[in-house]
Amino acid sequence: MLVAPSILSADFGILNDEITAICDGGCDLIHVDVMDGHFVPNMTIGPVVVNSVDKIATKPLDIHLMVEDNNFFIDLYAHLKPEYISFHIESEKHPHRIIQKLRALGIKPAIVLNPHSTPESIEYLLEDLDMVLLMSVNPGFGGQKFILSVIEKATALKKLILKRNPNCLIEVDGGVNHKNIQDLKDAGVDIVVAGSYVYGADDYSKAIKSLQI
Ligand code: DX5
Ligand code: ZN
Repeated sequence: MLVAPSILSADFGILNDEITAICDGGCDLIHVDVMDGHFVPNMTIGPVVVNSVDKIATKPLDIHLMVEDNNFFIDLYAHLKPEYISFHIESEKHPHRIIQKLRALGIKPAIVLNPHSTPESIEYLLEDLDMVLLMSVNPGFGGQKFILSVIEKATALKKLILKRNPNCLIEVDGGVNHKNIQDLKDAGVDIVVAGSYVYGADDYSKAIKSLQI
């Protein structure tokens, strides 16, 4: 299991130290939550801060867009060459076009499903994707309770992935901790995002390692 700590739960007063701590602590990716105050009822960081995160980071960026205008935000972050940019199926009229745009930029495309969205809704996009991100909370805030039905959804998605594109990874985001990690692994999940579980721990490295099962 790969682990992508979400910096949403970091102490932004000492952000450089918080980034260095998770990189030195053995994380696999750095999850960056970008919100626009429209698609979700919250706002986070913009390009000035993400640029400075990228300078400090020694692990690849996993940028999660929670925005209405995906084109606009992709253009803001493309120059950083993040490993992944994920966008919500619920916010995009032309998801296939966005996938092609990311591919042309050399960025691995990923689609995010909110708790109500079904894996079947993206079945015909799977062959073009590197990753599907399943939300296990409603997007917008860290520290929420894990929605249990994501386990069943991951199991169903895994079946579709094996049929359509076995190289596509499954990531789960929201409420992940040491109690649900084994169920996520058993359901075929490859990457977990963990915000409050990692940044709320006394020892970030120990928290990260407890999820790398
Ligand atoms: C929620 C974000 C998550 C969030 C996860 O909108 O997408 O990445 O930071 O935080 P935890 O792990 O605390 O649920
Ligand atoms: Zn996220």
